[in-house]
Amino acid sequence: MQHITLAGTGSFVPEGKLTNADLEAMVDTSDEWIMTRTGISERRIASPEQATSDLAYEAATAALADAGLAADALGLIVVGTSTPDHIFPSVACKLQARLGCGPTTAFDVNAACTGFLSALQVAEQFLRTGAAEHALVVGADTMSRIIDYRDRGTCILFGDGAGAFVLSRSDTPGLFASRTYSDGAHYDKLYVCGGGSRAPSEGHVPHIKMNGRAIFQLAVRAMVSATEDVLKASGLTLADVDYLVPHQANKRILSAVADALGVPFERVINTIREYGNNSAASVPLAFDLAVKDGRIQRGDTVALSAFGGGLAWGAALLTY
Ligand SMILES: CC(C)(COP(=O)(O)OP(=O)(O)OC[C@H]1O[C@@H](n2cnc3c(N)ncnc32)[C@H](O)[C@@H]1OP(=O)(O)O)[C@@H](O)C(=O)NCCC(=O)NCCS
Repeated sequence: MQHITLAGTGSFVPEGKLTNADLEAMVDTSDEWIMTRTGISERRIASPEQATSDLAYEAATAALADAGLAADALGLIVVGTSTPDHIFPSVACKLQARLGCGPTTAFDVNAACTGFLSALQVAEQFLRTGAAEHALVVGADTMSRIIDYRDRGTCILFGDGAGAFVLSRSDTPGLFASRTYSDGAHYDKLYVCGGGSRAPSEGHVPHIKMNGRAIFQLAVRAMVSATEDVLKASGLTLADVDYLVPHQANKRILSAVADALGVPFERVINTIREYGNNSAASVPLAFDLAVKDGRIQRGDTVALSAFGGGLAWGAALLTY
């Protein structure tokens, strides 16, 4: 079988911060409640001039530099996002032009917070079949644009950011397996009201609606089962895994996933305190931050997992 290697990673967050103290002034909440229930202290928020493609571009150029690859070598650009600059064209098309590569295959996938893993799974197929030699896979979201900052149940969770992987065909194993799943029967537990073709029943500014308690339970089960699936598909066990990089949704969700898998929390990459939930950006952002701070090193085996609106969920297993 043709192997795939993770040649480089990059990430980007905007400078603006939204702290728990800021939120205390906006809704009926407290730093103590948010920290205890979510583990989040602050989130990054894009400036009015910044859109998702701007965050994606910074992460992508960092990943290409890390991989030592010129943009025109890319045979595929796929972006996981549910907050594109416009309904069309895709963020991937904007990236292709801005990166300065020639015409190439470029499109977005929308699987909400699982978007990066869906994009990764698509890239895996292109690389395994030889349809592309190198692929740029990006997760980027500007969640602040679809948050109702009067809703204390959602506005405390989300932030903006982007993360990117460059994946290349290789003679040595890197990416073992990726799997994604969905069950649209639960769509109304987490969705964006407005902005699409279904007219909103209330208001006209698109914003997230969520049943937090239901999502919590589904999230843990989904990320655990998807992680078990990619381990089985790879012929590996948790003893072979150095780190878990789960979707950064809530510190209690990360703990519950680690407990259910029997993995000590020290082996879970946790960036939630500083960045909150960055939707599709969360997994590649957390991965890249852990590479840059020296926790994840070349040769480490890492299990990625995510969960989000759809419901959509998935996992991937790779040796970095
Ligand atoms: C949203 C979430 C933090 C809420 O935590 P929780 O422990 O489940 O809290 P509950 O929803 O049961 O609410 C408990 C109480 O806190 C209140 N509350 C909700 N948000 C609050 C806030 N920001 N500040 C203070 N109180 C709040 C509720 O109104 C409720 O009050 P009541 O008991 O008087 O009715 C948690 O359910 C969660 O993280 N779920 C997953 C969401 C997620 O990850 N979504 C994205 C997936 S990609």
